[in-house]
Amino acid sequence: MSRVTKHSKWRYVLLGAITWLAAFSLPQSVHAEYADVVINNYADAAGIRPVVFPHWFHRIRFRCKVCHADLGFQFKAGGNKITMAKIIDGKFCGACHNGEIAWSVENCALCHSGIPGTPTHFHGSTVQRLVAPAYKPVEQ
Ligand code: HEC
Ligand code: HEC
Ligand code: HEC
Repeated sequence: MSRVTKHSKWRYVLLGAITWLAAFSLPQSVHAEYADVVINNYADAAGIRPVVFPHWFHRIRFRCKVCHADLGFQFKAGGNKITMAKIIDGKFCGACHNGEIAWSVENCALCHSGIPGTPTHFHGSTVQRLVAPAYKPVEQ
């Protein structure tokens, strides 16, 4: 193998590495503003607090693809018609919150932590502003 071929081979490897880095690092910074999602299609009506899904917390632990491709989560706040039956069946949140990958469904209050009456939406702020203070009981 001549020196020239060796050089161009490494140039391709380097180019590949740069493309790979750009592909995986750019989307992260572009979507840096994504924060929490309040999910309240059924919760209020069922007499339980709305769900606060900490998007950022999950994003830094898993690739987008895990949830939005493999687990089928639509890119839309409240767009998935999630029910407890589906979760217990291992779908949506239940794919991980099963006592193996993450704590299980018995921990109702960890997911149902929203202030009652908060509509389904994607929230730009921190989870603290959406979660009802634990010391203040909410009459239902
Ligand atoms: C891992 C997160 C998570 C945990 C833990 C969890 N839920 Fe849910 N639950 C959800 C999500 C998400 C929804 C959909 C909310 C909506 O659209 O209103 C939901 C919906 C509900 C609903 C309304 C719809 C339905 O399926 O009846 C009830 C009632 C409910 N949960 C009760 C509970 C109770 C009781 C527990 C504890 C035994 C619990 N949940 C634990 C995430 C969770
Ligand atoms: C652990 C699972 C999980 C991971 C990982 C994840 N998401 Fe999400 N994402 C969700 C859930 C759940 C919702 C809300 C869906 C619902 O309310 O039914 C959501 C909602 C969204 C939305 C819609 C927000 C709106 O305005 O309605 C966008 C956009 C999004 N995600 C982008 C991303 C991107 C980009 C990544 C990777 C950097 C990512 N997500 C990683 C679970 C995840
Ligand atoms: C791809 C796996 C995965 C999916 C899907 C998933 N989670 Fe989680 N979640 C985790 C892991 C892992 C943790 C961290 C568990 C721990 O600290 O022991 C976690 C932690 C949490 C926490 C606690 C965050 C904190 O600050 O400690 C909440 C609340 C939560 N999940 C809600 C949800 C809800 C609601 C859904 C569905 C809309 C969901 N999760 C879907 C993996 C997942």
